[in-house]
Amino acid sequence: MSLKDKLDLQRLPRHIAIIMDGNGRWAKEKGQDRLYGHHEGVESVRTIVEACAELGIGYLTLYAFSTENWDRPVYEVNGIMELLVNTIRKEVNTLTKNNIRLHVIGDMNMLPPQAQREMEEAVSITSANTGLNLVMALSYSARWEIVNAARKVAEDVTAGKLKPTDITQDVWQQYLCTAALPDPELMIRTSGECRISNFLLYQLAYAELYFTDTRWPDFRKENLYEAILNYQTRERRFGKTSEQIQQNEEIIS
Ligand code: IPE
Ligand code: IPE
Ligand code: MG
Repeated sequence: MSLKDKLDLQRLPRHIAIIMDGNGRWAKEKGQDRLYGHHEGVESVRTIVEACAELGIGYLTLYAFSTENWDRPVYEVNGIMELLVNTIRKEVNTLTKNNIRLHVIGDMNMLPPQAQREMEEAVSITSANTGLNLVMALSYSARWEIVNAARKVAEDVTAGKLKPTDITQDVWQQYLCTAALPDPELMIRTSGECRISNFLLYQLAYAELYFTDTRWPDFRKENLYEAILNYQTRERRFGKTSEQIQQNEEIIS
């Protein structure tokens, strides 16, 4: 029995978020340049997108580049941007063929103009697709997002469009880049680092976290199924007691 057959298809996470980490170390371990790791990481992206589409997962968010990553050596940043443009150009038809809708979250103004155009075009081409929502976090950081949202809220209050007492969690959510997305239920980070690195700090409040030593370029469908299986063993209590959760499940079933 493969890991896929063990999955409870009734209890799949609706939204999976992944910090795709370990490309550089993976390449160095092979005596290669860090960029080789980023190139090989693209194959993992393809595979995992395909796996999520096959399973019928609603949303997959991939952390591809953080605002802090701009501080890497220029050679690496340029290599990643080039890879991004080429990959999007190559993959947009496959996305459409598979009914996948692309979204981008992050500070797009920081991207080179060509990368911005390429991304905008791909988002627009796939906007009518109704299958998997693939969210690329690009030039993204949660602190940037939260400060940006606070600024927009302040502007709307100043303009009289919003009263301070109107600001509820639901309203606040509408000011985030992820306004249209449900919160992730499962967050996976590859390559052995156990930290969040400025990713979806607000939205991950109740996500189940899964850390694996596997480097991103080695991450394949079986690794994803393993993460989901692990998620399915968790009891999500949201502050309640275990007894309350079990009673509720009995009522539902
Ligand atoms: C993740 O891999 C990709 C990006 C951050 C762009 P890294 O490049 O961080 O790889 P490691 O963590 O140095 O191995
Ligand atoms: C987080 O990885 C960002 C992405 C995977 C895009 P990093 O490699 O940049 O994170 P740190 O620096 O190890 O925390
Ligand atoms: Mg890293």
